[in-house]
Parts: sequence; structure tokens; C-alpha cells
Amino acid sequence: MTEPPARRHGTRRPRRGRPRPDLPRRVAFDLLRAVAERDAYANLALPALLRDHGLAGRDAAFTTELAYGTLRGRGTYDAVLAACVDRPLDRVDAPVLDVLRLGAHQLLAMRVPGHAAVAATVELARAVVGESRGSFVNAVLRRVGGRSLDDWLGEVAPPLDADPLGHLAVSHSHPRWVVSALRDALGGDLAATAELLAADNRAPAVTLVARPGRAGLPELLAAGARPGAWSPYAAVLEGGDPAGVPAVRDGRAGVQDEGSQLVALALAAAPLTGRDERWLDLCAGPGGKASLLAAVAAGRGARLLAAEVAPHRARLVRQAAGPGADVVVADGRTPPWAPGAFDRVLLDAPCTGLGALRRRPEARWRRAPGDVPALTRLQRDLLGTALRSVRPGGLVAYVTCSPHLAETRAVVSDALRAHAGVTREDARPLLPGVPDLGDGPDVQLWPHRHGTDAMFLSLLRRNPD
Ligand SMILES: C[S@@+](CC[C@H](N)C(=O)[O-])C[C@H]1O[C@@H](n2cnc3c(N)ncnc32)[C@H](O)[C@@H]1O
Repeated sequence: MTEPPARRHGTRRPRRGRPRPDLPRRVAFDLLRAVAERDAYANLALPALLRDHGLAGRDAAFTTELAYGTLRGRGTYDAVLAACVDRPLDRVDAPVLDVLRLGAHQLLAMRVPGHAAVAATVELARAVVGESRGSFVNAVLRRVGGRSLDDWLGEVAPPLDADPLGHLAVSHSHPRWVVSALRDALGGDLAATAELLAADNRAPAVTLVARPGRAGLPELLAAGARPGAWSPYAAVLEGGDPAGVPAVRDGRAGVQDEGSQLVALALAAAPLTGRDERWLDLCAGPGGKASLLAAVAAGRGARLLAAEVAPHRARLVRQAAGPGADVVVADGRTPPWAPGAFDRVLLDAPCTGLGALRRRPEARWRRAPGDVPALTRLQRDLLGTALRSVRPGGLVAYVTCSPHLAETRAVVSDALRAHAGVTREDARPLLPGVPDLGDGPDVQLWPHRHGTDAMFLSLLRRNPD
């Protein structure tokens, strides 16, 4: 994201009266508070805030970088701030700490000149947390700005050889337990883990999908996108608003990560003998994969049933997939259909989302290791349903947007032990042309290798009678 000239977003102190911080910093602060106080999703709350305050173009880009960068970098900035504040950070008022984090991000990671970053952030502090706190913020930020990020990391991050997880957690701003889970999923490879963590800190480009039979790739390319790397239906929008693309506006195309496209297409491409008419998406909301599968199914004389437990998310599936899919509100653990009713089943299971951290700046701080056991229980139950829902010879794709081994390989291995007559197949040939898919039989995509979310795919076949 390009930083506009500092003058535009530096300090310009009003001559008298209440301090008036500049709008981008004020809006970024409001977003941080909304995330902390109301559990707001930054990617949903920020566009509304920008709109309400009339921020567009470079101002919107600056505000987004301020807010998202601060949310992503919180782990690193807190380690630096802890060295600059004379009490534990949990004894600093939360709004003051958010102002400090905003200041630290400008000083350590943006190209805002130090004096402008400090002055403008102090102005913000005076307006939102009070005059007296302004002096505290000023003193702390002057210490933060006294060194570069690299110098700070040399001081506050544990040494790599003594504590590799601690080092990566602080220097790449991820919770330690997440670093640990990602390292395990990468087979213990610390260099690859560092690359992945760095990729999580880069905002992904917007990827579109041209839903087959409804929109063509040339239409998206004509709207200024370039072809995706792997999926024949993917186009990457370098800038601009996807809603400005006509095919997206009328639902013939959508926004969808290329990894999500690849795993859905893999299920559709897997060889199947006999009937191939009834497809199921067991956890369909909000409908990205269901829309793609429904479009592919329609072209092959098949029909998709999309199930979703949350009624509002089922409505989103109806909107996204249009008349091409049947949608049912159902708990996948107690399905309303007969066993063996389907030929192909997608289970895109609810998960920690650790594979999509680059998309959701605050998500890494929201999840906790304690979330994993309940999710893996649900994943096992849903995979049981998926395997019972498919006919002999039929296929189940088990998919997560998390590479956490407890949610991926462990769930599949348990299902194979619990359900007789199921075979795990090599999924790699179903992603033709995609390199670095590992030893198989499952597929694990990675942001730092494939430029996609870290989607996991395991392909299971119910043995023919
Ligand atoms: C990972 S998301 C699916 C994303 C979707 N496939 C897409 O591409 O847009 C998982 C979905 O499962 C739904 N879900 C959670 N528990 C469920 C259950 N017991 N039965 C059916 N759906 C469930 C969640 O509400 C959520 O919408």
C-alpha cells in the first residue's frame, strides 16, 4: 500500500479549542476499538467507517494500512511497547494501548516521518483519551521512534537458536501457539514457517471467480483483471473495487480465493463410475464453493444441494448460487436426507481459519488453542455424516481453511478408523499444474508457496459394493 506524502497525514494542530486529530487516524482508532469492544470483523467494519466519514482514494488506503497494519502487527508492537512502558501492558488502559499501537505501527513500519507520526498520534490521544494521557503517549512514542524495527527486534525478540517459536512469534507478530501449529503442519521446517508468517502479514490481492456457464474469464480480464495462477476460472484484480466489475455485481462472478476454487474443482474433477447427478455441499455458507460447484454441476447435468445450519448464512448461499442450487437449512450432524443419497459430497468444515490469516487482520488474536477440541469434534461428526451421505463408489472431499494437523490429517485418520469401507485417494492429480503439493495423498496449499489461502483437501471414496 502506497503511503501518501507525509504532509497530508502529519500533524496540523488547531490553533485553539479541542484537539482535532486527522480523520484517518481517528477512523483507524475507531476500528481498533470496534474490534476490541464489539468483536467487530475489521474487513466488514472498516468499509462502513470509511463510507460514513467520506474517506476515499489515498485517504482510504492510508487509513486501511494504519488500521490493518496495527491489527496484524500487534504482537510485535506490544513487545516493543512493553520495553518502553514502566508497567505491564495489561495495566495500560485498552484505548491508550490502541493509540500506542497505532503510533508504533507508523513509526516502525510505515513511511510516515517520525516527528509527524508522534505529533499526529499525540493529537489523537489528546482527543480520544484525554490531555494528560497525551503526555504519556508522547513520552512512550519518542522512545519507540528512537530505534528501527530491526534494532527493536534484536532487543525484544527471544534469540532464534534459544527459542525459535518465541523469536518467530515476536518478529512476525503471531501468537506462539499459532506459530507452533503452523510449524508442525510444515513438518518442523522453521525457514518455511518464517516465510508463511511473513506471507500472512501481506494483504492478498482480490481474486475473482468466473462461474462457469454464467460468466467467462475474458469478461473479467476485460474489466482489468489478470488471469489467476492455477484455476481456469480465476482472475486477479490488482486494484479497485470488485463491486465495480459488472459480472460480480450481478452474481455471475464472485470474489473467491484461488485455493477455494481449486479444492472445489478437484472434487468435481475426481473420476467417478456410475451415477453422477446428485452433489451435496454439507456446510455451504456463505456460498462461495457452492456457487462454483453448482455452476459446474449444471454444465454436467447434475444438481447441487447446499446445506447450512445458520439461516442467515443459508440466505447468503441462495443469493450467491442463485437458482442453480437447492438450499436447505440443516444441521449436518442430523441430516434430513437418506444415507447414500449423493454421488459427490463437499465437506468444507468449520475450522480455526488459521489458513486465511492474511485476509482477516485481527483473526490470529481472536482464536485460542482451547477452540480446537470443540471444532475437531464437530469436524469428525460432520465427516461421519458426509461419508454416510455418499453412495458406494461416491466421493467425499474433506476441506478446511486451516492447516492445523488436528483439524486436517488427524480428523481424516480418525474417520478412516471409524468408518469401514472408505479409501483415501491421492488428491494431487486433481490439481493439475499446481507444484509443491507434497508427498500426498492429501493436498495442502500454502500462501507462501501457492499464493492461496492454506486450504487442505483430503479425497475419500466409499468403496463400491
Ligand atoms: C468454512 S465455512 C464454509 C464456507 C463455504 N463452503 C464457502 O466456500 O463459502 C463452514 C460453514 O459451516 C457452517 N456450519 C457449522 N456447523 C454446521 C453444522 N453442524 N451443519 C451444517 N453447517 C454447519 C457454518 O455456519 C459455516 O457457514
